[in-house]
Amino acid sequence: MTASIIDGKAIAADIRGEIARRAAQLRDAGVTPGLATVLVGDNPASHKYVSMKRKACAEAGIESFHNELPDSATQEEVLALVERLGKDPKVHGILVQLPLPKQIDEETILNAVPLSKDVDGFHPLNIGALAMKGREGEFIPCTPHGVIELLSRSGTRIEGANAVVLGRSNIVGMPVALLLIERNATVTVCHSRTRDVAEVCRGADILVAAIGRPRFVHGDWIKPGATVIDVGTNMIDDASRKSGKRLVGDVDYEAALEVAGAITPVPGGVGPMTIAMLLQNTVRSAERTAE
Ligand code: GUN
Repeated sequence: MTASIIDGKAIAADIRGEIARRAAQLRDAGVTPGLATVLVGDNPASHKYVSMKRKACAEAGIESFHNELPDSATQEEVLALVERLGKDPKVHGILVQLPLPKQIDEETILNAVPLSKDVDGFHPLNIGALAMKGREGEFIPCTPHGVIELLSRSGTRIEGANAVVLGRSNIVGMPVALLLIERNATVTVCHSRTRDVAEVCRGADILVAAIGRPRFVHGDWIKPGATVIDVGTNMIDDASRKSGKRLVGDVDYEAALEVAGAITPVPGGVGPMTIAMLLQNTVRSAERTAE
């Protein structure tokens, strides 16, 4: 069997086209959707991600307001910035890129983002709503939402499926698991203490890998016909490349292609969806303001 490839780039492009139309309608109504980005420190990956997000904003007709603080920034400085953005009427969404430098308490900063501008969906009340039946938060976190969209748009049935999530991070693993439960999957979350993770994976109709370990999932861990969503973004050495490096996921892609029913590539799978969901949340926030 050769898996069908779930083209996250193409799916994200469709969604971004729709967002651009909604942004244009908003501008016609006198509201320019605005996203404030907050980048603290010099983590190269964070710089790259934020610049990709800002470029995507520009393409969709969303204004972005960039804020950069040095690695030495204090908790008070970051907090004051987030509070100022929280009050700025031109800002409909605030994105605080994670991770923050170690002297900054992430929880305090994320709590300071007003719920109505929490387009990353990281405020504890938004995450908490995911864990409660019948509750709807203001926003769903971007990468987990992107994972669900990829499953839906690739025709994968979530209801009743055995879903295995590798990783329990606040940003991906845990919220993905909650979203899958909400959609009536039977969910197992694996982590560093899980016994025989390979065997658990073999029972998965849906496998979401979000642990940040290059090619951790072997081909023979995958149930034939399963849908595999690879959230990993790991840089490995590759002497054949000019840069000497290459981006790979958490799944051994070539091996998985032979077994899975459908799979996301890295790059070009989940990554573009994270950005599309961020733009979607920002436009939704601006639409609420316009209403
Ligand atoms: N760091 C890694 N992924 C994300 C994300 O989706 N949003 C933010 N703000 N930081 C991240």
